Amino acid sequence: MTETKIALVTGANKGIGYEIAAQLAALGMTVVIGARDAHRREQAAKELNAESVALDVTEPETARQAAAWIDERFGKLDVLVNNAGITGGWGQEPSKVPLDVMRRVFDTNVFGVITVTNAVLPLLSRSAGARIVNVSSGVGSLTEMTGQYAAMPAGAAYPVSKTALNALTVQYAKELRESGILVNATDPGYCDTDLTEHKGFRTPAQGAAISVRLATIGDDGPTGRFFNDEGEVAW
Ligand SMILES: NC(=O)c1ccc[n+]([C@@H]2O[C@H](COP(=O)([O-])OP(=O)(O)OC[C@H]3O[C@@H](n4cnc5c(N)ncnc54)[C@H](OP(=O)(O)O)[C@@H]3O)[C@@H](O)[C@H]2O)c1
Repeated sequence: MTETKIALVTGANKGIGYEIAAQLAALGMTVVIGARDAHRREQAAKELNAESVALDVTEPETARQAAAWIDERFGKLDVLVNNAGITGGWGQEPSKVPLDVMRRVFDTNVFGVITVTNAVLPLLSRSAGARIVNVSSGVGSLTEMTGQYAAMPAGAAYPVSKTALNALTVQYAKELRESGILVNATDPGYCDTDLTEHKGFRTPAQGAAISVRLATIGDDGPTGRFFNDEGEVAW
């Protein structure tokens, strides 16, 4: 089995995921870009000298096939960054949000994380010290949504999906505690990407840095916790 670390980043064909892939590759890892848009996926892989695999996190069969491809090619996985995410658009007041928007956002941001994580868990278990990073958001923090984000418009889909992702992070960390696989959630901050319609004031590279840090922590590092650039984020 190769000594080089292998990392899978979902939704890595643009935005923060692309920058996470670039920064992990710069550290010497072999990065696999998992994304659904074939053209952008190939383009990103070429630019980053990375590998790429078709992956729609809402389609379990593509996750199974991506895992089989990584297994055949590398025989293990060291880092999984669950970055793929969608907002579901505007108009998410709980009294008005269409249920299909709720389902679509949860399908990608929560169930997609379970789908991909479980598909590659046997490969992560073969790594000497695997790391899972779930790219969450400060708007999913119950503390922050009633604190610094209290004045933000109410949103039932995106923020609630990230709250669920945070809880899921804790549950995976609990289950995997004895395995040496460390599982943490990250908040990239408000970044200039398609997702924010380029209103964010941080660059995607700045947003990527905290996930790269958590993807490369030592064996004595934290698990089941939530971080941004400034430190730990309250749940
Ligand atoms: N930007 C911010 O300010 C901010 C703040 C906090 C948290 N975040 C989180 O950071 C992550 C990345 O966001 P971003 O701002 O970089 O957004 P982005 O530029 O819109 O990129 C999102 C990525 O996710 C992929 N994706 C969406 N649905 C997918 C699916 N079903 N299967 C596979 N890939 C899928 C997209 O691929 P396609 O090209 O195929 O659509 C794209 O590569 C998200 O989880 C987001 O919630 C962002």
